[in-house]
Amino acid sequence: MSKYVLPVSVFGTVIGCAVLVKNHMTGGHCPSKATINGKTVVITGANTGIGKATARELAQRGGRIIMGCRDMEKCEAAAKEIRGKTLNPHVYARRLDLASMKSIREFAEGIKQEEQRVDVLVNNAGVMRCPAWKTEDGFDMQFGVNHLGHFLLTNLLLDKLKESAPSRVINLASLAHLVGEIDFEDLNWEKKKFDTKRAYCQSKLANVLFTRELAKRLQGKSTGCCICTGVTVNAVHPGIVATELGRHTGMHQSAFSSSVLSPLFSILVKSPELGAQPSVYLAVSEEMEGMTGRYYDVLLEKEPAPQALDEEAARRLWEVSSRLVGLEEEGQCAKVDPLAEGQSEAAQT
Ligand SMILES: NC(=O)c1ccc[n+]([C@@H]2O[C@H](COP(=O)([O-])OP(=O)(O)OC[C@H]3O[C@@H](n4cnc5c(N)ncnc54)[C@H](OP(=O)(O)O)[C@@H]3O)[C@@H](O)[C@H]2O)c1
Repeated sequence: MSKYVLPVSVFGTVIGCAVLVKNHMTGGHCPSKATINGKTVVITGANTGIGKATARELAQRGGRIIMGCRDMEKCEAAAKEIRGKTLNPHVYARRLDLASMKSIREFAEGIKQEEQRVDVLVNNAGVMRCPAWKTEDGFDMQFGVNHLGHFLLTNLLLDKLKESAPSRVINLASLAHLVGEIDFEDLNWEKKKFDTKRAYCQSKLANVLFTRELAKRLQGKSTGCCICTGVTVNAVHPGIVATELGRHTGMHQSAFSSSVLSPLFSILVKSPELGAQPSVYLAVSEEMEGMTGRYYDVLLEKEPAPQALDEEAARRLWEVSSRLVGLEEEGQCAKVDPLAEGQSEAAQT
């Protein structure tokens, strides 16, 4: 064994622990006490983790909550638990599998028919570092669920969001976008060797690029304050949170990991309740009114990675995504509206 292995491991562990302690200490509760009676919130992947905690807090604040999940048994159980704990009867479980365009379309159609309004859409569901699985439509699972599924869902619900304006879209991104790269030649890992970490980072970078491009399209020009459609969209890294997200990683796969590292990790990371605070803040706070196209690291606005600021990549990703999910030919995607652009410019001068 090299003489450097031990010191490097100790150094790595100390740095890792310091990062986790900092994460644990930073970003408290949403400072806003706003209630959302009469507002409808759609949350994806709400049966567990950050999504479930977000659903619970928004139900506590009086919202009508639609939980979109792929496993109806888990979803009904979570909805029942939230109704019981918050005494809010308006918490509903609906089937949504983001790995199936058919399921996404059925879910969106149900929302359009059953709901009078959608005030907040929280694109929360996510899969991390799974094997080289494909979605029902043949996309890489992480790119398909984390990005394409939410891209399609958001576009299908845009008219409803516009009718309900001022309304908000929140995209759960991640710090992982910092090392993400979009490989436009091979988005679905068909040509190169599959790398599950890079696939997750690519999907999370896509979340930030999508946020910025959608904000631009919704307001008709570059990011800043939303004054056109009244629909805002922001991305957030929730912090490092103890959830089931690591289910495909080594953390749960060896006896040492699950008996020693996993409990240590659980002490240092945030609870799902604390991890839900950034989403709640973006969904309800008065300060977020009109804010759009931004990236939040827990409760603080930060500049995302340089590759997430690449406007050409954001535009290209939008076009490719529209084509892949079959929105282009239907003309359903948010387009830059020249009239809105003119209005926006007039209003800003
Ligand atoms: N936890 C963290 O430290 C952390 C850090 C940065 C970013 N995030 C982001 O936060 C979001 C929430 O993650 P989490 O930590 O709460 O993870 P989690 O506990 O694993 O929850 C993920 C949720 O997404 C759902 N989901 C997965 N695939 C789906 C599909 N095909 N269709 C519909 N729903 C699907 C899961 O449903 P099932 O239970 O049926 O699988 C579950 O409800 C993710 O976007 C993640 O990338 C988390």
